[in-house]
Amino acid sequence: MSTTCSLSQTPSEPSSDTKKRKPLTREQRDFLSSALRVNQAGELAATLIYKAQTPLVVRQHPHLRPLMAHMYDQEAGHFATFNDLIHKHRVRPTALYPLWSVLATGLGWSTALMGREAAMACTEAVETEIGDHYNNQIREILEMITQWEAEGYQVSTEIGELVQTLRRIRDEELEHLDHAVEHDAKKAEPHWLLTGVIRAGCRGAIWVSERV
Ligand SMILES: [Fe+2]
Ligand SMILES: [Fe+2]
Repeated sequence: MSTTCSLSQTPSEPSSDTKKRKPLTREQRDFLSSALRVNQAGELAATLIYKAQTPLVVRQHPHLRPLMAHMYDQEAGHFATFNDLIHKHRVRPTALYPLWSVLATGLGWSTALMGREAAMACTEAVETEIGDHYNNQIREILEMITQWEAEGYQVSTEIGELVQTLRRIRDEELEHLDHAVEHDAKKAEPHWLLTGVIRAGCRGAIWVSERV
């Protein structure tokens, strides 16, 4: 399947700077397309997990309402950000959008049914994988930037802004991970099995969404 990601190193306006921008290679373009695609799918899944968990968790533990709302609102913001980016750069969404939607809702609902600790363990597992995932993307883009700079090229504002966006979202995901641990994620039974299965599921979903 072809993609026509328009993220570019090419300036949309003439630059006053004398340095040139190096056009993206096919490989870099594909990497950025798949990065935006998988991020959009992941953030959709995150909103659906919290949407499914919140009513069950909050009914048993009303004091968790502000925390659940805060995490949901941040996920909704992340989803909106990647929605805008995939539309702006004409990246097609993952073909498995409907499947991820069903699985994410199922994961949110089932962990919340197991209780507050399991719901928090789900956030802990998901955010551990997502934090790593965003770090890998940031590292890869920084390597591109270092290479361009070493060759004397200028880096486009678009690419610079993408790195800033990824860093901000990564930090918010890691903040969710901390909240989950503070709220007894580690007390979920059996914690190792629950987080192990969810983390493996996240890695599988990331792998597939980057490709399909
Ligand atoms: Fe997120
Ligand atoms: Fe998150």
